[in-house]
Formats: sequence, structure tokens, C-alpha cells
Amino acid sequence: MELVPAHEQIIFDYVTAAELEVAIKHEHIAFPPDEADSPEQFRYRFKHARHLFLGAFTVSAQTKGRKLIGHVCGTQSPVTYYTKESMSVHVPSSPSICVHSVVLLESYQKKGIGLQMMREYLLRIQRQNSTLEAENRQGKPERVLLVTHDDVRPFYEKAGFICKGKSDVVLGAGMWYEMSYPLKPSGSNPSK
Ligand SMILES: CC(C)(COP(=O)(O)OP(=O)(O)OC[C@H]1O[C@@H](n2cnc3c(N)ncnc32)[C@H](O)[C@@H]1OP(=O)(O)O)[C@@H](O)C(=O)NCCC(=O)NCCS
Repeated sequence: MELVPAHEQIIFDYVTAAELEVAIKHEHIAFPPDEADSPEQFRYRFKHARHLFLGAFTVSAQTKGRKLIGHVCGTQSPVTYYTKESMSVHVPSSPSICVHSVVLLESYQKKGIGLQMMREYLLRIQRQNSTLEAENRQGKPERVLLVTHDDVRPFYEKAGFICKGKSDVVLGAGMWYEMSYPLKPSGSNPSK
């Protein structure tokens, strides 16, 4: 596994309005046109669920600021399995978080960053749940859902997702598999 250059550090943080258009560009680089989510879907998710729109960034002493190199974004939904409709709707306080896009720029792939990013995403959701629980508030999500092609399944399984079988979702070419990550009671470590 090739390492990230020594002068670059990887950090994870929520995507800002200024970085949103870069994430949209990355989506269209990573996926074929019939699979890429639209700019409108991205802008909707950012507007309504930016606490579910995490970025991976490089920071370097040689450049000013941070550079977006990947993202995970989703919305909350009443569905119990992933649907195409969930891609364009955010229903706060509902039981599922549907992840719609997971992307890392090609030059940063296969270095373990994608898995770190996914684990960080799940950890933050788990923390948000702990806060809701501490404040005695209702509407904690119970699971994280997504669909994937067969070849990327091992990646999500390494992050702790369980494959629930073939999905009914039709999106571009090829078969999709339903993946589910059960959110654990607060206090437990989601990456274990
Ligand atoms: C999927 C993606 C986010 C993975 O990021 P990454 O940084 O390359 O993955 P990592 O290096 O963290 O890989 C972690 C583990 O998952 C496995 N894995 C990663 N990508 C995989 C893939 N495409 N297929 C199968 N396994 C994969 C790796 O083998 C690795 O296991 P190992 O450590 O035992 O070798 C990245 O490849 C990507 O953005 N791809 C293009 C967009 C895409 O396909 N997104 C997913 C849509 S469902």
C-alpha cells in the first residue's frame, strides 16, 4: 500500500458551502453519468442534512487551507431498506440514515483512507445518537443503509456493514446489494 506523501495530513470534517461544488465534481469523476447523483441532489443534502455530509481533506504545510479529496453523504429516512426515493428526501428523526455517495479521489485510493472516512462517518452518527439520548430526545436513527455493487461489498463489510441480499433498486447498470449497519446502544464503539 503506497502511503500519503509525508507532507500531507488527512483530516475529516463536515463539508462547507464553498467545498460543495468540488464534491459534486468528484461525484461526476467517480461514477458513470447514469449512477452519479445530480448537483441538485447534492445541494439538497447539503441544505437539509449537512451533519451527514462528511469530507476527507488533505492539509499540508506547503499549501494554504485544506483540499477536499473525498466525501460521504446521506439523508435520514423512514424507510427500512434503501430506496431510490430516499436519495432526494431528508426526514429528520426517522429511523434510517441512507448513505447515497461514498467517493475518494483515485490518487488517494487503496491507502486505507476510504475505510477511515467511513468509520469516522459512523462514529459521528453514533456520537450524534449519544447526544440525543443524553438530552432525552426522540428520533434516534437505528441503522445506516446503502446499496453497493458486488465488487465493493468487502469494503463496506470491513466498515461493519452486513449484506442483506440483493436490492430492488434500479440505478444505472448492474445489480445492487443492500447493506445495513446497525447503530449500537450509546457508549459502545461502532468500529468494533
Ligand atoms: C470505494 C472507495 C471509497 C474505497 O476507498 P479506498 O480508500 O480505496 O479503500 P481502502 O484503501 O480504505 O480499503 C479498505 C479495504 O476495503 C477494500 N476495498 C476498497 N475498495 C474496494 C473495492 N472497490 N472493491 C473491493 N474491496 C475494496 C480493500 O481491499 C481494503 O482491504 P485491505 O485493507 O484488506 O486491502 C474508493 O475506492 C472510491 O471512491 N471508489 C470510487 C467510487 C465508488 O465506487 N464508491 C463506492 C460506491 S458503492
